[in-house]
Amino acid sequence: DATATDLSKDAAATAAVALVEPGMRLGLGTGSTAVIFVRRLAQRAAAEGLALRCAATSKATAQLAASLGLRVEELDDIGWLDLTIDGADEVDPDLNLIKGGGAAHLREKIVAMASDRMVVIADQGKVVDRLGQFHLPVEVIPFGWQTTRKLITRALDALDLGQRPVLLRQRDNKPLLTDEGNLILDLALEAIPDPQALADRLSRIAGVVEHGLFLNICHVAIIGRPDGSVVELQ
Ligand code: A5P
Repeated sequence: DATATDLSKDAAATAAVALVEPGMRLGLGTGSTAVIFVRRLAQRAAAEGLALRCAATSKATAQLAASLGLRVEELDDIGWLDLTIDGADEVDPDLNLIKGGGAAHLREKIVAMASDRMVVIADQGKVVDRLGQFHLPVEVIPFGWQTTRKLITRALDALDLGQRPVLLRQRDNKPLLTDEGNLILDLALEAIPDPQALADRLSRIAGVVEHGLFLNICHVAIIGRPDGSVVELQ
């Protein structure tokens, strides 16, 4: 239920705040779990004077973090990050992820790849044996997006993933636009037997900017429980 999930997210976020050291260059994730992390981080940073430098993975997170007194800078002005903390939509036993439920996976992937360590914070509901139940978000440029969608459908066919819906993400009955002004196509796959093969195929399609498969990027996943305890997957 909702309360147990919230308590679990809070447990994971709180454990992640303990990983932060004074002077660190941090990547801040996007989504409801990342919001809890940013709030708790700001409290600790203010109380202890941690002198952090933060890069955000979305406009929403940048705004929140700055409003709480954290120093938010452009990623390129910081250059490289010590640690990124972010949520995920699915985590498999190899720490491969699906992200982008919050439409931010493009910036999230750039920030994660610019970090020495990426730590995921999540509730138990995100842990899966195999990726794919959650619709896989793919960010595409608006130009020719319906053609790009056909090319994606063809790629799924070539991988024997069958006829699967590829849905244009909407918000308020209009196509959702990402922070970069792009569109999101959500792939209803049910299961992804070979995430690397799918990632490679999708990356080769011209109109695709970035897909939500994070493979070999996450170092540790902190999974929270409603009683406040956490389990670390690594
Ligand atoms: C944002 O684009 C996503 O990658 C989020 O990190 C992911 O959707 C997890 O969000 P919650 O913490 O809200 O579940």
